[in-house]
Amino acid sequence: MIWDGFPEIRRELDRVQAVIRAEVTRPGGVIAEGLSELANRDAKLLRPAFTILAARIQTGGRAAEERIIRLAAAIELLHIASLIHDDIVDGAEHRRGGKALHRKYGDRTAVLMGDFLFARCFSLVSDYARPENASLLTGTVGHLIESEVSEYTADNESEWSVRKYLHRVIGKTAVLFSLSFHIGAAEACDENCDQRSVEVLRRIGYNIGIGFQIIDDVLDIFGEQRTTGKTGAVDLKQGILTLPVILAANNGQRARLIRTLEKIARRHSRKGGINRFWENRALDEVRTRIEEAGGRQGAIAAAEVYTRRAHRELDRLPDSADRATLRSVTAQLLSRAS
Ligand code: FPP
Ligand code: MG
Repeated sequence: MIWDGFPEIRRELDRVQAVIRAEVTRPGGVIAEGLSELANRDAKLLRPAFTILAARIQTGGRAAEERIIRLAAAIELLHIASLIHDDIVDGAEHRRGGKALHRKYGDRTAVLMGDFLFARCFSLVSDYARPENASLLTGTVGHLIESEVSEYTADNESEWSVRKYLHRVIGKTAVLFSLSFHIGAAEACDENCDQRSVEVLRRIGYNIGIGFQIIDDVLDIFGEQRTTGKTGAVDLKQGILTLPVILAANNGQRARLIRTLEKIARRHSRKGGINRFWENRALDEVRTRIEEAGGRQGAIAAAEVYTRRAHRELDRLPDSADRATLRSVTAQLLSRAS
C-alpha cells in the first residue's frame, strides 16, 4: 500500500476510512452490503490523502482537524460514486480487485448505489465546507460528466488529437485532483494564511492528475489485472483512444492501428459470442504495434513532464516532511508503468 511508508498519513487515512464506513452502512440493506464490500477493498486513497497533505502543509504539519477528515471522506465518496457509474458505462467487470458492483447487483441497483454516495458527499460538503468550496465541488462534477461523455462521443478526427485527449484527461481526473488539494489547502487556512500557497497546491494537484491519468491509460493497455485490480484493455475494446495509441498513430502506424482496433471492437461487440482467442490475439497485435511505434514510452515521457511540473511547484513551498511525502508518492505513481 502506497501510504505504508508514511505512518502519519496512514493514521489520518484510517480516520477517513472510518467516516466512509459509517456513511456506507447508513442505509442498511443491499446498498450498505454492496458499498461496504467495495469500500473495504484495497484502494490508493489518493484524493483524500491529497486533501489531508494540503491541509497539513498549510498548517505547518499539524494533524488534520475532524472537519478536514470529513471533507477528505466526501471527496473519496464522490470518486467511488464516479467509478461505480464509470464501470457501468465502460462495461468493466472488475474494480479494486473484486467484481464491479453492476456485475454483482445489476446496472439498476449499481446506479442507485452511486447516487447514494453522491448524495452523502454533498451532505458532508454542505455541512463542513465553506460555500465557495462547496460550489467548486459541484462545478467539478459537471467537468467529470462532460469528460466521461466526450470519451465516447468524440468525432473521428478529434479522437486522434493529443490536445483533445489532454482535455479529456484534465476533465476526468486532473480537476478532481486539483480540487482535493484546493479544499484541503483553502479549508485549513484562516484569514491570515498565504493565499498564494493555496494556488500552488491546486496546480500541484492538476499536474499530478494529468500524469496519473496518462499512466493509468498506459496500464489499461499494458498492465496486469492482478496488479491494477481492474479489467484490462477496456479502452481498446470500447474504441477509446488514449495517449499511447495516439502517439503510435502519429508515428506512422495509424492505418494499421485502425484496422486492428476495428477488429477488436467488432469482436467485442458481438454480444455473447466473443471469441477470447481471437480477441487476445488482436489485443497482443495492437500492443506490439503501439510498443514498436514508441507509443508506450512516449506516453510515459509525457507523464514525466507533468510530474516534473508538479515537483517544480512543490519546490515553491517551504521544506517539510509532508512536501517530501508528496514528492515520493508522485515518483511512485509515475513508476507504476515502468
Ligand atoms: C475513470 O476513467 C472515470 C472517471 C474518473 C470519471 C467518471 C465520471 C462519471 C462516470 C460521471 C459521473 C460522476 C458522478 C460523480 C456520479 P477510466 O475509465 O479511464 O478509469 P478506470 O480505468 O479506472 O475505469
Ligand atoms: Mg473505466
